[in-house]
Amino acid sequence: MMKIAVLPGDGIGTEIVAEAVKVLRALDLPFETEEALVGGAAYEAHGHPLPDATLKLAQEADAVLFGAVGDWKYDKLERALRPEQAILGLRKHLELFANFRPAICYEELTHASSLKPELVAGLDILIIRELTGDIYFGQPRGRRTSPDGPFAGQPEAFDTMRYSRPEIERIAHVAFQAARKRGKKVTSVDKANVLETFQFWKDVVTEVHAQYPDVELEHMYVDNAAMQLVKAPKKFDVLFTGNMFGDILSDEAAMLTGSIGMLPSASLNARGQGLYEPSHGSAPDIAGKGVANPLATILSAAMMLRFSLNQEAAAARIEAAVKSVLAQNLRTADIYSEGTTKVGTKEMGDAVVARLKAQG
Ligand code: IPM
Ligand code: MG
Repeated sequence: MMKIAVLPGDGIGTEIVAEAVKVLRALDLPFETEEALVGGAAYEAHGHPLPDATLKLAQEADAVLFGAVGDWKYDKLERALRPEQAILGLRKHLELFANFRPAICYEELTHASSLKPELVAGLDILIIRELTGDIYFGQPRGRRTSPDGPFAGQPEAFDTMRYSRPEIERIAHVAFQAARKRGKKVTSVDKANVLETFQFWKDVVTEVHAQYPDVELEHMYVDNAAMQLVKAPKKFDVLFTGNMFGDILSDEAAMLTGSIGMLPSASLNARGQGLYEPSHGSAPDIAGKGVANPLATILSAAMMLRFSLNQEAAAARIEAAVKSVLAQNLRTADIYSEGTTKVGTKEMGDAVVARLKAQG
């Protein structure tokens, strides 16, 4: 029996995860779920955003279905207790170093993009972001009295950007292997012109590439990549980068598709365990209103079936059902446009379930 840890989290997290679980159940697969608190919800109940019991559940499960964490009301808490620490802690403790963030522009939503339709029609980029290294986790970090330079003696804060060779190698293999299954092109995004860490990144990626002669490798500086993403996004196939640049570029790429409410993500470790979550956040402004778009979470559940639970056919069925509800013109508020039918979170989930049943 496969086990899925269900961590809905905060804000709209509980609403959208409920719909994804409903969709999973409609497939009649042999899995069990166990739910636990995470993020602000866990802080309220247990005084910590990632309680030991939640971490243990996640570690022992085959996969984690995650909603979202965070709320402005926790901004004043000390960093270690903020909801975001839950997701960072899960990434670190489960060693989820490989983050897949597809940015796909669905035909029906081409006009929801902020770019001209011809620039995004048919867009299908896969962002692969390294997720457990870089300046996000590098030590040392902190506050101190500036030891040198023109501001010596003044208070300062610092973080450490670093990547080790094996860290870069393992994620580079993931990127090249993923590219092999699609457009066979990897754009490795760095800042080698300024940062030692990313000159090393570029060198190691180039070395690993020697094992993948069938895949094209291109290097691009991050500032240029940010520009190319809005200039000619369809030129990318696999956009591959480190933790920090990947955080920024994946939000940019998501918006090209019209709605971040549509985009799933997967974060995997070397054992095939994964955490699956929508690319968007907890949206406290619309929480509890039943209007959030559950499709990103439902599509994340599909990625979970594919990557961690070895259920490719079921994953494909969910993806087909989602396309079909869009074709039926059902839209949550975030992707609504004139002439389509506006539905709430639950109705959208129900519609996906109905399409699954209709597939027979
Ligand atoms: C993301 C988020 C997280 C990150 C935050 C919530 C810590 O922005 O998954 O992209 O910066 O990685
Ligand atoms: Mg982000």
